[in-house]
Amino acid sequence: MIYRTDTYWEDRYNQEGIKTPVSKNVHPQDKYDEKIGNDCKIINDSLEPLFKATSVDLAIDCGCGCGRLTPVLFRYGKKIKGFDISPKAISLADGFVGYFSKPVEFICSPLTSIPLEDGISGLSLSWTVLQHISDPDEWKKAIDEIQRVVKVNGVILTYDNVEWNLNRMKNPEVKVPEHMSIKSANDYLFAFDRCDCLHQKMYNKHVLTVLRKVK
Ligand SMILES: C[S@@+](CC[C@H](N)C(=O)[O-])C[C@H]1O[C@@H](n2cnc3c(N)ncnc32)[C@H](O)[C@@H]1O
Repeated sequence: MIYRTDTYWEDRYNQEGIKTPVSKNVHPQDKYDEKIGNDCKIINDSLEPLFKATSVDLAIDCGCGCGRLTPVLFRYGKKIKGFDISPKAISLADGFVGYFSKPVEFICSPLTSIPLEDGISGLSLSWTVLQHISDPDEWKKAIDEIQRVVKVNGVILTYDNVEWNLNRMKNPEVKVPEHMSIKSANDYLFAFDRCDCLHQKMYNKHVLTVLRKVK
């Protein structure tokens, strides 16, 4: 069996539920809440200086999972859309919509074909998502889709593990070589070829990359 994002994530959300995106040692509620706070702080530290008091019409959460971090976009977008390949994750995310203070829509879709028109979003977030797209062509296609739906001058934020050869597959029958291993932070700078890099910063094994679309 080959690692496939469509089945792997669906299975995990069905088994582990809403806390699937974080490792099991962070599942206790206090640790889970603290992790969300830490992740949001990294995002806000990067985005607040760029947006100050302004907001965009549409901010998107690409690979939103169950909407764990989607609310961080409320202060940057008038409307929010989240996309994820897992129907189960989207159904869990939908459970929050009634509690949100902003219009949010969660849509089940692979990032290789985001159901949005060109240049419609002023801000895209993808948090530990691209690192999980194992096929290099699919990985680049997802990046090109994000670049397509973000408008010129829009901002793209990605955060991914770059040092760790992801080895989540405990089943020995599952082969992992197909799993994408991003070798360096520079991979993102080359792949986001319609963007300028605003800044890049390492957080332990992860790289945060903030880009502005220029063409
Ligand atoms: C580690 S989780 C992160 C979820 C969310 N960003 C968060 O931080 O809570 C990775 C997510 O990427 C989604 N994903 C993986 N490959 C995808 C693809 N090709 N298209 C859309 N979503 C994908 C998975 O379903 C999963 O929800």
